[in-house]
Parts: sequence; C-alpha cells; structure tokens
Amino acid sequence: TTLQATKNTVLKSHGRPPWYGEDGLPISDAFVVGIAGGSASGKTHVARQILQKLGSIPTVVILSQDSFYKRHTPDELALAHANLWDFDHPDAIDMPKFASCLSDLKTCKQTNIPIYSFSEHQRLDETKYLYGAAIIITEGILALHDPALRALYDLKIFVQCDSDLMLARRIRRDVKERGRTVDGVLDQYLRYVKPAYDNFVLPTSRYANIIVPGSDNGVAIDLIATHIKRQLDERMATRLRSSIAGAGPLPQR
Ligand code: ADP
Ligand code: C5P
Repeated sequence: TTLQATKNTVLKSHGRPPWYGEDGLPISDAFVVGIAGGSASGKTHVARQILQKLGSIPTVVILSQDSFYKRHTPDELALAHANLWDFDHPDAIDMPKFASCLSDLKTCKQTNIPIYSFSEHQRLDETKYLYGAAIIITEGILALHDPALRALYDLKIFVQCDSDLMLARRIRRDVKERGRTVDGVLDQYLRYVKPAYDNFVLPTSRYANIIVPGSDNGVAIDLIATHIKRQLDERMATRLRSSIAGAGPLPQR
C-alpha cells in the first residue's frame, strides 16, 4: 500500500501549474511515457531515475499498472493467498479503467486512481486523487499490451533483463516488501510469472521505441531524459509561435 501510494503521487509541484496558460487552459496534453518489462526487470527504477534526471520539470506523475488489478471475491482471495491466482495474465488487469484514468490525466482532467495492496492481494476502498501533470510515466509488466494504452503514449520503453536476474530480484523484493515466502514466490513464478512473461510481456517489446537494459542503464536513462526535455521544449516553442502569429485561440476543452 505504501509503495502504491508513493508511486501514484505528483512527485514534484512548485507553485502555479506551468502547463496551464494565462487563460487557465492547459497548454498541451501531458507527455506520456509507457514503461513495460518483466517483473523486477527494473521498470520502477527506470521511471524514478527518469524523474530525477528531468530535474527542472515541475510535475511528473508515476502511474503504476498495479493500481488497476481487478477487485477479488473472497474465493479468489483464498486462491491468491495460496499462490493459485494468475496475476500475470492480461485478464487480471482492469485495462479499460487503466486507459481511461491515463487518458484523463493526459488531458489534464482530474481522476481517482485505485490503490492496491500486495500483501492483501486487493484493491483498497480508498483512492488517490490526481489532477494531471506535465509528464506522466506509466509502468507495468503489461503497459504496452493494450492497444488503447499504447495509443496514449508519446514514448514507449521496454526494460529487457535476464530472467535469472529478474527472478533473483523478485525473490528478494517479494520476501522483504510484499510479505511472501521463498517457496511461494518460486511456485508462483513457475506456474504463472514465467509463462506470462514469455507469452504476453516479452512479445510487447516489439512496440517499444527504445529497449533499455535492466542493469547498468544510466546512459540509456540520460538519453531518454534528454529526449523528453527536448520534446517539451519543442511543444512550448510551437505554442509560443502560434500565439505570436495570432493563430486564434487554442482548442477549448
Ligand atoms: P519492477 O518495477 O520492474 O518490478 P524494480 O524497479 O522494483 O522492478 O526493481 C526490482 C529490484 O531490482 C529492486 O530491488 C531494485 O533495487 C533492483 N534494481 C532495479 N534496477 C536496477 C539497476 N539498474 N541496478 C541495480 N539494481 C536494480
Ligand atoms: O512490480 P512488478 O512489475 O513486479 O509487479 C507485477 C508482478 O506482481 C506480477 O508479476 C505479479 O505476479 C505480481 N503480483 C503478485 N501479487 C499480487 C499482484 C501482483 O505477486 N497480488
């Protein structure tokens, strides 16, 4: 829960939202980055590092696919606690809700993001209120799977990591942070995580604009942050040019 609350937060905010013009309307849609890759490949790490490198950009939101796991019935919850529920199949995710929340955020509309608890295997009753940002970074194993989501991204990234490294990281993380046992992690990995990675996650790397390594990826992250900054600068310059040229009011929302 804590992790989710932290992930889906407006991470930096100084004063007046600069992506709103003097007329009170959004200057442009948010720039949306989608990061996919296997479990524990380093997606969250990449997202946080990009955020850090962006430095002077006032508001960046990291939106996690985990928030959109479907709500479970008591029977399903019992299966989940016995490691007999498949959390890696695309059907486990409420993709329409994921896409509609992302679309709202992209167009600077307020939205309520569900909060998910890994230890309870359940979506919580509370939600997180978000209202848009200059940049939104979405991360999840299936972040590039759904066509409706893919259509919203300005930049698509796939984090490619050795399977043994991902498994080692996952065992350590799930035992430390998600209340799991080593046996439970391995059962779940062999039954669901590994097959889903091969069948649903890895094939989406073909949609990526950039493949980032799962370790020693500082240079790749620098290049991505530079690209995003340049894209934002170009958007701002286009907006300025069109207002100087008196091209008429910007489209109303
Ligand atoms: P994901 O979001 O893909 O599940 P995380 O970013 O949470 O993966 O990373 C899983 C684990 O691997 C974390 O403990 C993290 O510290 C470690 N890790 C991720 N990226 C790197 C990296 N580039 N170098 C070293 N360790 C990393
Ligand atoms: O953070 P990460 O990308 O690793 O999160 C996705 C993983 O979380 C999936 O591989 C899935 O097996 C796991 N998961 C879990 N228990 C849940 C929900 C997801 O182990 N209740």
